[in-house]
Amino acid sequence: MSGESQDGLVTYQIYWRSFSDSNGDGIGDIAGLVDRLDHVADLGVDAIWLNPMYPSPGADHGYDVSDYFDIDPDFGTLTEFRNLIQSCHSRNIKILMDVVPNHVSSSHPWFISALGEGIGNDYEKLFIIRDGKGELGSEPPNDWQSIFGGPAWSYFPTGEGQVQRWYLHMFDSEQPDLNWYEDEVREHFEDVIRFWFDMDVDGFRIDVAHGLFKAPGFPDMSTFEDDVSGCWDQPEVHEIYRRWRKIADSYDPPRLLIGEVYASSRERLLQYLGDDQLHSAFDFSFLKQDWSASVFSENISKNVDLCKKAGVPPTWAYSNHDEIRHWSRYASIPGIADKTLGELRYKSLFSLICALPGNIYLYNGEELGLPEAEIPDSDRQDPAFFRQPPESDYKGRDGCRVPMPWSHKSTNAGFTTGVPWLPIPSDWVDYAADLQKIDERSILSYYGKALALRKENNWMNIGCIDDIFAEGDVLCLTKKFDGTIYKVLMNFGNSQKYPIEGGHVIFRSSEEEINHNHLMPGELAYLFYNNN
Ligand code: GLC
Ligand code: CA
Repeated sequence: MSGESQDGLVTYQIYWRSFSDSNGDGIGDIAGLVDRLDHVADLGVDAIWLNPMYPSPGADHGYDVSDYFDIDPDFGTLTEFRNLIQSCHSRNIKILMDVVPNHVSSSHPWFISALGEGIGNDYEKLFIIRDGKGELGSEPPNDWQSIFGGPAWSYFPTGEGQVQRWYLHMFDSEQPDLNWYEDEVREHFEDVIRFWFDMDVDGFRIDVAHGLFKAPGFPDMSTFEDDVSGCWDQPEVHEIYRRWRKIADSYDPPRLLIGEVYASSRERLLQYLGDDQLHSAFDFSFLKQDWSASVFSENISKNVDLCKKAGVPPTWAYSNHDEIRHWSRYASIPGIADKTLGELRYKSLFSLICALPGNIYLYNGEELGLPEAEIPDSDRQDPAFFRQPPESDYKGRDGCRVPMPWSHKSTNAGFTTGVPWLPIPSDWVDYAADLQKIDERSILSYYGKALALRKENNWMNIGCIDDIFAEGDVLCLTKKFDGTIYKVLMNFGNSQKYPIEGGHVIFRSSEEEINHNHLMPGELAYLFYNNN
């Protein structure tokens, strides 16, 4: 395993509950994952990232951790997990975990003790507990809102006749925020990362990495401007990552730290990155951007510039377990019934990030072209759905978390022999991996080819971007590598084709030889030019 260089790393995110179930309880598990490791290895990825797999009551499906030093029994055992690490490493695949430092589960022993060991007990200081406002504290201490909706404060036990106390939870009420000013909290998480690094885990994706500290005085949100607030992105957080980085660097090979950082600007994001803090951070503009050559080109160049300044590789992802699947965002086109165009756009998108410098993150199921699933409200599980105000039409994140379809002939598309934890739409058998595997024109086959091409051609993952711009509907990206000029052209238009001038076409996402002088709607091409 080489941990020194992480440039060009392709990581496959596994939402393990939905990956593969081995024992019929409807929830994915380690044994199921091991059975499917060939699928992951065949794709040609360098690493997997597992969503949190610690014991958890599941209020936020693993992002509410009750013990950071063990494996959720739904997922398996520590011994199985150790074997999983070995199985990944023997295939030259790194394994990244998710660490959740901003909050714990309300079933974590610390919170249970804080609640149960009498007013003013020692555990209370590990959380953020404040007197309420108004008569006898009947209103929350300030106006902060939970990311999932509703107030970010819930009642905390209070002595009789005393002002009502409240505890802070920036997410669900079953996810109390920790007080990072306490040494015990800091030491705990240093122990946590060491524990897993000692077990040969290659790195962590840090959940809500911009969280942790809250501004002293807990100022109302309404007193802040420009999206900077008292609940996120406080200066104290950087010292934590400097310490974590020292720990990560003390291992051989050094372990990786990747941040889920929502900062209010790219300048603020920059402060998390570099030799002494995080190795990289996700660029979330890619999960939200409109379908447009100019928007894509602008976001690519901004992310590349930022990472150049920080001296870290850029990170690219179109989908994850929190966002609408990008098939539904980009490939199912309102008003256009042409599925071929949607599919071509989808393939082109993948070849576009395959040609960008830095690291790519895939989200399980995107290689099958899975759309966002329709789920009846009665089957929904996401706390973000349940905390919405009545007027909201936000349905939460279950639609991107539906289990994987593996085989077209089996019950539940081969995911489970029992009842899947979220219903699998009946037509998902059409997406089954076994069908796509034997179809050369499938999305799955395309992903494999595109990644193999990236591996064979260093201009794709390493070469610097010399120029990137949009001309009308066409994105044009130029890279120089080893004395050769390479171009990536992508047509974001739905109806017009564009001439390709000069250069030699080396690959096109339609995989068609026809129209070789044109870029079809939705098509991408790689070209090279001799530099003399
Ligand atoms: C992150 C995770 C999300 C989770 C939240 C709270 O945003 O990606 O799934 O609900 O943190 O931990
Ligand atoms: Ca299971």
